[in-house]
Amino acid sequence: MSVATVPVPVPGAPYDGVIGPGLLARLDAHLALPPAARRAAVVTVEPVRAHYGKRVAAALAAAGVAVDVVTVPDGEDAKTLATFERVQRAFAAIPLGRDDVVVALGGGVVGDLAGFAAATWNRGVAVVQLPTTLLAQVDAAIGGKTGVNLPEGKNLVGAFHQPRAVVIDLATLATLPARERRAGLGEVAKYGFIADPVVLDLLERHPDAAVAGDPAVVGEIVRRGVTVKARIVAADERESGDRALLNYGHTVAHALETLSGYRRYRHGEAVALGMVAAARLGERLGVSEAGLAARTVALLDRLGLPTGGVDVDPAAARAVLARDKKARDGVRFVLCRRPGSALLVDAPDPVLVEEVLRSLA
Ligand SMILES: NC(=O)c1ccc[n+]([C@@H]2O[C@H](COP(=O)([O-])OP(=O)(O)OC[C@H]3O[C@@H](n4cnc5c(N)ncnc54)[C@H](O)[C@@H]3O)[C@@H](O)[C@H]2O)c1
Ligand SMILES: [Zn+2]
Repeated sequence: MSVATVPVPVPGAPYDGVIGPGLLARLDAHLALPPAARRAAVVTVEPVRAHYGKRVAAALAAAGVAVDVVTVPDGEDAKTLATFERVQRAFAAIPLGRDDVVVALGGGVVGDLAGFAAATWNRGVAVVQLPTTLLAQVDAAIGGKTGVNLPEGKNLVGAFHQPRAVVIDLATLATLPARERRAGLGEVAKYGFIADPVVLDLLERHPDAAVAGDPAVVGEIVRRGVTVKARIVAADERESGDRALLNYGHTVAHALETLSGYRRYRHGEAVALGMVAAARLGERLGVSEAGLAARTVALLDRLGLPTGGVDVDPAAARAVLARDKKARDGVRFVLCRRPGSALLVDAPDPVLVEEVLRSLA
């Protein structure tokens, strides 16, 4: 695949997602650095720095900025205000000026943390996202949501801060653990169900290449995923209306993640289970075309994602669903009519929801 550019036309802050294999080595062409930038603070984690740090530093130097690397602890547990403070103090030590740039190099954790640090440093400096997980490439890096977790809940502290550019190097997927690639494909399949059925066709035709991260297959899938996310966030930057459709599979996913203390499932795995639940619910309600649930299970199985084996206590799940931030007078579900088309359904019959949850056992 050659280089593909997907515009993200957010009103007032448009930028491009640039997708291709090997882009980190020729970053300078795609960075869209602020003209007055003299320094770049690269925020990353050790496993990613070890593979890509030198390449990115060299490309930034070639673009004419001085480079400082800020390495933070890896993992969701480090997406905290304490790590945020460490990053801000590293910026102070550099010192990073108001015309300078933050470069987020890593998965969604780094993107959210570095993006939030950029949103607030000096009341906001530019950020460039260099996502290195499939999930971050098709989802977290696009759309400008940034933030950190509190012990009380995920992503409770944050800001909208659009990047100057998102540069997606497909070659980084080669070093990503296989489980992370599979989990990312769960989020990718979501785009197929809500907006672009070709994504499902590609996954069904080339499941092994998709799981392996083969750029020839994954490149087109990522391009389509980024296109869907870009279209939705540009139409609806602050989340209402269509942005809610991005939550397909997420109502149940969030409940499973909460009930398992975020330990058992990678996010994309929980989304896979949530999409199975949503398809079954949709069929029971007569909203989804017949066969959607079977097609969902067959695809996710083929990708090595979970479609059952859940031991949720339905009462506990119901309580968590009722607390879901999207819950108004009842739980709200995104359902899929047929691949490519989704809708919001308010307060489906709790008895049906419980049955569907039990079916994930
Ligand atoms: N801002 C948004 O709109 C948005 C959307 C979805 C998810 N998120 C956030 O994204 C986070 C999850 O992101 P994630 O799934 O990318 O997890 P992650 O950032 O923790 O990355 C997963 C693991 O892969 C490693 N890694 C990353 N790239 C690698 C590479 N190329 N080679 C080898 N190892 C690599 C990381 O060090 C980490 O251990 C969550 O905090 C979630 O809230 C944000
Ligand atoms: Zn998600």
